Amino acid sequence: MSQTTAPVIPLHSIGALNGADHRRIRSLASRALTPRSVEKVRPVTREHLRSLLERHADTGEFDVRKEITLIPFMSVVSFLDIDMEEAASIGQQMAGGAADAFGPNVTQETRDKANATFAALMEFVGDLVESRRSKPRDDLLTRLIAAEEDGHRLSRDELIVLFTNIFGGAIETTSSMMTSTFLELARHPDQLELLRQDPEELKRGTVEEVLRYRPAFYASGNKANADTEAAGLRFEAGEPLSIIIGGPNRDPARFSDPDRFDITRDPTTWSFTFSMGPHFCLGQALARAELQETAAAIARHTRDLELTEEPKWLARVMVNHVDRCPIRYRFEL
Ligand code: HEM
Repeated sequence: MSQTTAPVIPLHSIGALNGADHRRIRSLASRALTPRSVEKVRPVTREHLRSLLERHADTGEFDVRKEITLIPFMSVVSFLDIDMEEAASIGQQMAGGAADAFGPNVTQETRDKANATFAALMEFVGDLVESRRSKPRDDLLTRLIAAEEDGHRLSRDELIVLFTNIFGGAIETTSSMMTSTFLELARHPDQLELLRQDPEELKRGTVEEVLRYRPAFYASGNKANADTEAAGLRFEAGEPLSIIIGGPNRDPARFSDPDRFDITRDPTTWSFTFSMGPHFCLGQALARAELQETAAAIARHTRDLELTEEPKWLARVMVNHVDRCPIRYRFEL
């Protein structure tokens, strides 16, 4: 029997805040995550992908689901200007994961494991804050510390939790979408062939289509912020809502022939995979940049890509995850 730890999901979590507090906290981080500021992650992601595909060139086989998580981890570590030595300690713990606690078969053990992961992550961020406080850098964390020292804009707890939300929110979601990128391109060789003809031009459309077709979350939880009526239903202010992302992503009024996987759709018609409204994903520009470089790397460095086994979708609440994604390919330099 495992030892029970107290739940550590904090009330300050940005996803749980609404109104003025939510706007205040969100605005402190949003400028660091604009499409322009995330450009620097592209070469890092490209190089990690090429190196992963080259590492397995001999056998031409590996399980994407198992090996891909390290890439968004290293990309976000580099993006947030965290030293690899600083990050190594937490990487191992995060690989243990918290995702198992979001399923129908949650046990005390999976719950304790998830709580231990969150606790370790927040402790790691707490140490990082002290390190930047004594040696400031030109990075997001140092700017958030300045807002905290200002006294009004951010409390210490809010600072730790916001940075933990950004760091923690960047990895499992992106690795799940990277896996789906491999999965859908292996399943649709005609579309992969098309992408190969012009990866720079088509990588954006490819990623928007994977996001639409195979979202990392199939639902998001929100609250109505006012009495309102939608789709013929009435909602009271504060009423909890579950918004099913998979539905609008396959709405024929928005996407013609929605069950067809087609990388040439207009990439400016966004799906609902990053949600919508005030809690719209803060890291979407970073995730999109990483995923576009993943799609381009698959096009450039693989030939004859195929699945060696049909993955199984795991029973989870809200999140879409496969158990494994084993592939075979020929490596192309
Ligand atoms: C493809 C990968 C990703 C997907 C599919 C995704 C999806 C989402 C979704 C659906 C929400 C809204 C949840 C809600 O409505 O309550 C959200 C919020 C959020 N995401 Fe992402 N995300 C991804 C990557 C990232 C990355 C890379 C970061 C950090 C750099 C990040 C940080 C956040 C944060 C901080 C929020 C909370 C925003 C708020 O409540 O105002 N996400 N994400």
